[in-house]
Amino acid sequence: MKIILIGSGNVGKEVEKVLAENGIPVELVVRSSGVYSKGSFIDGNENFAKYVDAGSVLFISVPSRGDGSEMLHYYVESLALGARIVTCEKAVLAHHFELVQEFKERIRYSATVGGNSGILPAVSDYRGAITEIKAVINGTLNYVSGALSQKRAEDDIFRDVVSRGFTDQGPRNLREVFQNELKDVAYKTAILANHSGMYEKVFTPEDVQTEAYKENTRCAVVLSKEGIRAGFLSFEDKSWFPSGVNNCICINGEKVAEGPGAGGRATAERMFKDFQGIVRDGAHDVTISR
Ligand SMILES: NC(=O)c1ccc[n+]([C@@H]2O[C@H](COP(=O)([O-])OP(=O)(O)OC[C@H]3O[C@@H](n4cnc5c(N)ncnc54)[C@H](OP(=O)(O)O)[C@@H]3O)[C@@H](O)[C@H]2O)c1
Repeated sequence: MKIILIGSGNVGKEVEKVLAENGIPVELVVRSSGVYSKGSFIDGNENFAKYVDAGSVLFISVPSRGDGSEMLHYYVESLALGARIVTCEKAVLAHHFELVQEFKERIRYSATVGGNSGILPAVSDYRGAITEIKAVINGTLNYVSGALSQKRAEDDIFRDVVSRGFTDQGPRNLREVFQNELKDVAYKTAILANHSGMYEKVFTPEDVQTEAYKENTRCAVVLSKEGIRAGFLSFEDKSWFPSGVNNCICINGEKVAEGPGAGGRATAERMFKDFQGIVRDGAHDVTISR
């Protein structure tokens, strides 16, 4: 089996460590600057497919950007060559869920929603008809909306999320954090909705209207037969919300998973669980279950 990492940032580096801890060597690393073997440049990254075959497993942890078109070729070319994929990248999956439907035996993506909290596996494992999903899928906005409901000042919360690394360096204030993170909510909502099997329609992030922040709201997603609600929503009962930056999911009113929603190590550990599932004959940690 040939292990190839596509992207070697916060998550990719942790994937490499988790694999090393389990005695699994990485053969190639693909960066934006090219294909690397044992730290040395060997080819341009436009030629990455030359190194992929049916025995390859790709760990994809490149940035989730726009409509995914920048990274789509990594998926399409590898799957066409018979390779298997474990990914935490969201933009391609959110816009091209047909790849999951077509290649469901060869693609695992449980780290795309909820990091290592097990949100997508909990949906796969749920027995019985799902009529409602309530989930917290963005740890940063869970933290921020929890802090705002405790009447903390916006500037103070902003400094807090930046200094703790809960958001990228880019945003200049809390409003910009909302804008960035709500895009992430839309990606994850589309993936969760498609994965849930609750809808005939295949959703993309453009179908997800995210509600802007209003006082006394919390950031969450609610999926029901009536449709999808996402962003800052009002809830009478807020007792099910996780603390801090955790994520969680309730199915038909019952909490079935909660845990760390992000972080390089947590995400890499979830990807490793997907990897174990994909290499185990006939067993699938995360497949579209319905
Ligand atoms: N961090 C988390 O907690 C978390 C949790 C769940 C999911 N995710 C998802 O995981 C992905 C990676 O997140 P991250 O935090 O690891 O981001 P990151 O630190 O920015 O790493 C992304 C890496 O991808 C490389 N890259 C950029 N363009 C590339 C290209 N065209 N081909 C190959 N490599 C390319 C970048 O390095 P070079 O430009 O130097 O090659 C960079 O090292 C994102 O899609 C994110 O949404 C992250």
